[in-house]
Amino acid sequence: MGTVDTMRAVTISDFGARPELTEQPVPDPGPGEILVRVEAAAVNPFDWKVVDGALKDVVPHGFPLVLGNDAAGVVERIGAEVTRFAPGDRVCGQFMSVRHGRGACAEFAVAAETGFLAVLPPDLPFAVAASLPTAGMSAYNAVRATEVESGQTILINGATGGVGQFAVQFAAERGARVIATAGPDLAEYLRELGAVETVDRARGDTVEQVRAAHPDGIDAILDLVTGPADSDRVAGVLRKGGIVVSTIGALDVDAIDARGLRGVNFSNKSSAELLATLVSLASAGKLRVRIDAEIPLREAAAAAPALRTARSRGKTIILPGAGTQGQP
Ligand SMILES: NC(=O)c1ccc[n+]([C@@H]2O[C@H](COP(=O)([O-])OP(=O)(O)OC[C@H]3O[C@@H](n4cnc5c(N)ncnc54)[C@H](OP(=O)(O)O)[C@@H]3O)[C@@H](O)[C@H]2O)c1
Repeated sequence: MGTVDTMRAVTISDFGARPELTEQPVPDPGPGEILVRVEAAAVNPFDWKVVDGALKDVVPHGFPLVLGNDAAGVVERIGAEVTRFAPGDRVCGQFMSVRHGRGACAEFAVAAETGFLAVLPPDLPFAVAASLPTAGMSAYNAVRATEVESGQTILINGATGGVGQFAVQFAAERGARVIATAGPDLAEYLRELGAVETVDRARGDTVEQVRAAHPDGIDAILDLVTGPADSDRVAGVLRKGGIVVSTIGALDVDAIDARGLRGVNFSNKSSAELLATLVSLASAGKLRVRIDAEIPLREAAAAAPALRTARSRGKTIILPGAGTQGQP
């Protein structure tokens, strides 16, 4: 295969800029890096936070910045000293390096071989593999942070989204009784994933519904959606000593402690070993992924405003290879 010099990518030119489909140089894998031909990239809420400048004061950004962290594809080239991967390997992982303006939502992406990457078995679809890195690892680690045990009851608030659907499965796997928030469209599916109860917020306040069904309180909450203004009230469904874990940093941990509860503002720590475990589980059919939408790369930038506000029902996947035949 001849070497291609340029690629199409979804980029932003500055913080707050509208995502655009642009032509960029194919990144050159340096020592210890691999170049992956992206077959599927997955969208995460974090992508929008990067657009908004959430990391502005934390790390310098390179512009134009290719959006997206998670992707799956085939190793195209390897840099010097790479030993873990070879051209032709099917892989998934995290590719965002805001410092270098690099990301996953492109025809090619670069990552360090020591980064958060896993080799894929031949039977695992790229779209499923691309769904695993951020949402899957965060769900696994956040459920772990709740310390929920067999027989205990946990509310997963925001269970219909990317992290939530994995979290339901991991909590059920620990033997917990899972209450999942879901409307009628996904209630049955979340029960298949392991939820024993569902709460539809369209039918009344979630807190009131959980309290009515569990007047003595529940053991744990994994909260993927509640902001600081309401998180104290949501924690009110816990029994004394219960724990609430927020993925959006919404908790006043000292105030929660003062009520005889425990609070954790969760921050995910990725690991290649955990990603490999999730790949094995998905490949064995023990971890299910619901693909909400698949969008060709050439349409992704135009779709970005709608994607940002869309109701997430699983993972949204961007396909660089879809419908590109005959495209410039
Ligand atoms: N701290 C970390 O390390 C970390 C790691 C991963 C993710 N996160 C954060 O965790 C959050 C969830 O991530 P995600 O990928 O799962 O997002 P997502 O795919 O957008 O899913 C969010 C889900 O929550 C539902 N929802 C929204 N408001 C709700 C409410 N009041 N009650 C019940 N459900 C509600 C949404 O359904 P509707 O559209 O129907 O409202 C949607 O299905 C994001 O803010 C993300 O940035 C943090």
